[in-house]
Parts: sequence; structure tokens; C-alpha cells
Amino acid sequence: MKVAVRYYTQTGNTRKLCDAIASALGVEAKSVEAPLEETVDLLFLGSSVYAAGVDPAIKKFINDLDPSKVGSVVNISTAALLPSTYNQVKKLLTARNIPVCPEEFHCRGQFHALHKGKPDAADLAAAVSFAKKMTGAQ
Ligand SMILES: Cc1cc2nc3c(=O)[nH]c(=O)nc-3n(C[C@H](O)[C@H](O)[C@H](O)COP(=O)(O)O)c2cc1C
Repeated sequence: MKVAVRYYTQTGNTRKLCDAIASALGVEAKSVEAPLEETVDLLFLGSSVYAAGVDPAIKKFINDLDPSKVGSVVNISTAALLPSTYNQVKKLLTARNIPVCPEEFHCRGQFHALHKGKPDAADLAAAVSFAKKMTGAQ
């Protein structure tokens, strides 16, 4: 199975999750500034919420995706308070006719004094186990 990992991060939390996932899957996690050139079965896309919305960089990345190159997207997210970015990301992807897996991985991300140290080692291990399950490696 061919996979790719992309993320947008402002303070490093989502990147931590995506780095752990990518490393377990034997690929490199790249920022959404790196367009997806190759065709993949699964695209793990990491995002988070800032003032209740996903960053415009995620919107641009999704708008620039070639739907014929993506089997399905797997949503990965961190946030301090809100539930995951799934609904926002799904809406953007659906508008582009890109399928989204119903399974997702979300955990708390540190925001100033809130959720210090998150995602922590247990979150990273859970993210890796989720990603392996999604790719059939576990
Ligand atoms: C500018 C800014 C605005 C944020 N707004 C929200 C918010 O509206 N709701 C929320 O749950 N978390 C909010 N957060 C917390 C982030 O979603 C959380 O810390 C997340 O893990 C950040 O991911 P990142 O480190 O990958 O950028 C905000 C964080 C920042 C820096």
C-alpha cells in the first residue's frame, strides 16, 4: 500500500503525531507546503484548529490536490478544546470528490498552560498503532 503524510502545524503538536506515523510507515512526514506528486492509496493529513477553524494552508493544500492521485484521506488532528478537525476537513475534501476514511486519530494538543506535554508518548504510540491498523500492517 502506498501512503503519504502531510501536516500543517503552528506549534509543533500535529507535526509530532505525523512524524511518528510517517516513521512507523517508512515515509517522511512533510508540510502541506510540499504538494503531493505521487499517487497514494492513503494520505494521512494532519491539521488542527486555530480560532475554531483549520488553517488556510490546509484549505489550499486540499484545493490543489489531484483527486485522481488519492485513494482516501485519513484525518489526523490535535486541538486544545474542540473535537477533531474531521468535519471541517471532510467538507473540504468532499467538495473535491476525494474520499475520507470514517476512522480518524485525534488527541489533545498543548496550548499554553493547557494539556502540557500533549501529545505525549502514549498519544504517539496510539497514533502509530492506529496508522498501522489503517494500512493493514497490524
Ligand atoms: C492561534 C491559536 C488559536 C487556537 N485556537 C483554538 C481553538 O479555537 N480551539 C481549540 O480547541 N484549540 C485552539 N488552539 C489550540 C490548538 O488547536 C492546539 O494547541 C493544537 O494542538 C495546535 O496544533 P499545532 O501545534 O500542530 O499547531 C489554538 C492554538 C493557537 C496557536
